[in-house]
Amino acid sequence: MKDEKVQERWIQHYSSRHQILLVGEGNFSFSASLATVFGSAHNMVATSLDSRELLEEKHPSARANLQLLEQLGCTILHQVDATAMMRDPRLDSKLFDRIVFNFPHAGFIFSESDPFQIELHSNVVKGFLINAYEMLRESGQVHITHKTAHPFSKWNIEDLAEDVGLDLAEKVVFSLYQYPGYINKRGHGSRSDETFPVGECSTFKDSTTFSSLAYGQANGQAEVNNRTILHGLKTCLEGAKGTWADELLYILWAYKTTSRVATDETPFNLVYGMEALIPIEILANSPKLMAYKEDNGGGNFEALRENLDLIEEQRDYVAMRMIAYHRRIVGYYNSRVRNKTMEEGDLVFRRSTVTNALKDDGKLRANWEEPYCIQKLVGPNTCILLTLSGETLGKT
Ligand SMILES: C[S@@+](CC[C@H](N)C(=O)[O-])C[C@H]1O[C@@H](n2cnc3c(N)ncnc32)[C@H](O)[C@@H]1O
Repeated sequence: MKDEKVQERWIQHYSSRHQILLVGEGNFSFSASLATVFGSAHNMVATSLDSRELLEEKHPSARANLQLLEQLGCTILHQVDATAMMRDPRLDSKLFDRIVFNFPHAGFIFSESDPFQIELHSNVVKGFLINAYEMLRESGQVHITHKTAHPFSKWNIEDLAEDVGLDLAEKVVFSLYQYPGYINKRGHGSRSDETFPVGECSTFKDSTTFSSLAYGQANGQAEVNNRTILHGLKTCLEGAKGTWADELLYILWAYKTTSRVATDETPFNLVYGMEALIPIEILANSPKLMAYKEDNGGGNFEALRENLDLIEEQRDYVAMRMIAYHRRIVGYYNSRVRNKTMEEGDLVFRRSTVTNALKDDGKLRANWEEPYCIQKLVGPNTCILLTLSGETLGKT
């Protein structure tokens, strides 16, 4: 209520009315820049991976920014890992309109063009996107600001977002001057507090595909639909494959008039606000058919109009059911994951999207490359690989 009376203020893509989560902050100057324009930071949660002590040691200027943010009512959290934040009890069940990670970076281990270094970065970004997806409000956006020239373009941010079900809504050119007071930091190593030239750089604005009720291609829903339709065709044709075009209309009709598990509604009802009369109801004299009276056309018409008035509410309800369904699936999937710790000498596959070496093979490309042997573990879920002929990958 209090916020409603205060005038809305904007800075670039951010409004004082948005609930904003900022992760991987350096000296918190980006958060401070937004809060200064808003005149308040009650709508912001600003976080860093480092503890407060380490952060202030790395970035002496962080102290003043943190003080300002605290005065303006910002929630400040430290030791927030962007790749595991959805399970952080301090952020539990909070949903946001904007989740922002500026210049994500896994640290300087190898050169930036080394595939292994790119894999480390991609893991951070992907982990962040998976978590952010779960913490977004409907029509919220995840923003990653990132350099776009080589070798940073090889992180393939768009593909990483698509892999987790996010859609690139827009990619906009980023400039430091858009955020007065913001000083981007390297954040790692002995030169943590130094800034770096951002060069060619963009903010990737990804949104969820909850809107996919209207646009199936957005989240793989189209592929699910196609699979269902194909299944229907195969069942009908029983080997007479040449006649598939004749059957397609019937299959589509059956598809559109059958309720889906995720929505508990038929696609037909969600579009037209009423259920279709299917042929069997005519043959079997269904109650719906019996109750219909030709001379009661006016009453029917009124009832249909009422249905149309309620359809928006019904669609909202279905959107919520889809989110709940998605969460149930994620929970089910996660509960089946068996944690496996890797050891040196283990044989492993590598996701082909990491190097993109097989991208020319298109949709039919294999998801995994080689078996490799783990030469050295350098961190949790991170290792140096050997090919089976004994060649070390990357720089190692
Ligand atoms: C290049 S710095 C950018 C810092 C800051 N965002 C800025 O724009 O100045 C990369 C930052 O990513 C953070 N980071 C790396 N891995 C992270 C993770 N898993 N969760 C949260 N932050 C992470 C580091 O702590 C570091 O501050």
